[in-house]
Amino acid sequence: MNKKGVLGVEDKIEITAEDLAEPLSYPVDAFVSPEYARAERDLLWPKVWQMAGRLEDIPEPGNFITYNIMDESVVIVRTGPDTLKAYYNVCPHRGRQLVNTPDDVNCVRGRKQKFVCGFHGWTYDLEGQNTHILDKEDWKGALTAERTCLSELNVDTWGGWIYINMDPDCEPLIDFLGDVARILQPFEFEKMRYKWRQWVIYPSNWKTAIEAFMEPYHVAGTHTQLLKYGEFYAYSKAYGLHGVSGFDERDPALRKAGGTSVTRAGGGKGTDPRVSTYELARENYETVNYAASTETLVNAARRLVDELPEGTSGPDVVKHWLASARADDAARGVIWPDITPAQMSEAGLAWSLFPNQTILQGVTFALCYRARPYGDDPNKCIFESYALERFPEGQEPKTEWVYAEPTAEKWGSVLAQDFSNMEWVQRGMKSRGFRGTLPNPHQERKVTNFHRHLSRYMGMGAPRLLKK
Ligand code: FES
Ligand SMILES: [Fe+2]
Repeated sequence: MNKKGVLGVEDKIEITAEDLAEPLSYPVDAFVSPEYARAERDLLWPKVWQMAGRLEDIPEPGNFITYNIMDESVVIVRTGPDTLKAYYNVCPHRGRQLVNTPDDVNCVRGRKQKFVCGFHGWTYDLEGQNTHILDKEDWKGALTAERTCLSELNVDTWGGWIYINMDPDCEPLIDFLGDVARILQPFEFEKMRYKWRQWVIYPSNWKTAIEAFMEPYHVAGTHTQLLKYGEFYAYSKAYGLHGVSGFDERDPALRKAGGTSVTRAGGGKGTDPRVSTYELARENYETVNYAASTETLVNAARRLVDELPEGTSGPDVVKHWLASARADDAARGVIWPDITPAQMSEAGLAWSLFPNQTILQGVTFALCYRARPYGDDPNKCIFESYALERFPEGQEPKTEWVYAEPTAEKWGSVLAQDFSNMEWVQRGMKSRGFRGTLPNPHQERKVTNFHRHLSRYMGMGAPRLLKK
């Protein structure tokens, strides 16, 4: 690989954050080229912090999970109450995976006090040190501790998520996250737990998949049932590698209601805000697989017509609704974090963390996505979605990764609508009649920002200014 890129196209990677507001285009090689897919294995994935799981999966010392990315497999193990280690999933003897990771299992979970290799029985403690080698003297003293310990890589946590980084010289996770960590900290994701989690091997590039969730510009064309609740005019904004989108002030109902994630589950336009708030909350909850709101919020919205007089203004309806939902949650032991209106507004609606993590946050919930390559096939990915929520202590559901075909029945009608685009975008982009992408400079800036940074890692495929 050289800076000219696998396709020999010399790109000047000079697009700045300001340029993102201009009409830009980027090539489709990143989505369709097998060479590009293979190059990601060397140029992208070993260089970035990757979200590899949630802490709740490894609550006790000895608990471990695996995380696979292309050919690489990692084991993350809890070594103590506050300590984790991440190891490459390979035995130093002759290279057997320490923990088998079959393709039809999304993440292997277990508990061990030592890892015993299934081939010749070499054994490792939780600190990665070798504690047993059969007939060690046969090596005549050549097997040092450094040669026989597991290979370690960087691991860190934020918001209850576990991140790994294979680059020994990487920047700290908190620096990689930058403004994201600051802006989303008030939501206390570390206090949320999985409500459900699903995965599928989907027929598109991982970027085609994750980009379907980067911009609300598609709401009007794809999720047409939502149009009766508002205009959903979106903004999007870059924060370094990462980006956020939200709804712009053009929508008065959303603006009055604060225009942010709580109101994603409410607000809404209509003659009676008591009714429209409930209808939008219910719609969001039921059609996004019970993830884009909570039962508490929906139930409190349902009572609005009984609790408030006719003619109550939109802002007063939302104020009452949120206060009563907050009280309902407190009564069952779910305490809302204190998030100021300014923090709420800055947090927007949905975050894309480079390269492949998406978070749509609410006060007590989050709907999240992740997409990864499936091997080095540019036309396939592992797509995952999961819902997080705050639960009363001890009432967290026990969840596992469930493989689910991409249907409305399994994922809810809104996600099924998104699935109904991704595969066909993947196919369409291969057309020799496709002249390159034309992302919206205002509403799809997150996507262009993503390609701006991706091209820097890959040394090719930079967005270019469209000539007027
Ligand atoms: S490969 Fe692991 S003990 Fe031989
Ligand atoms: Fe969508």
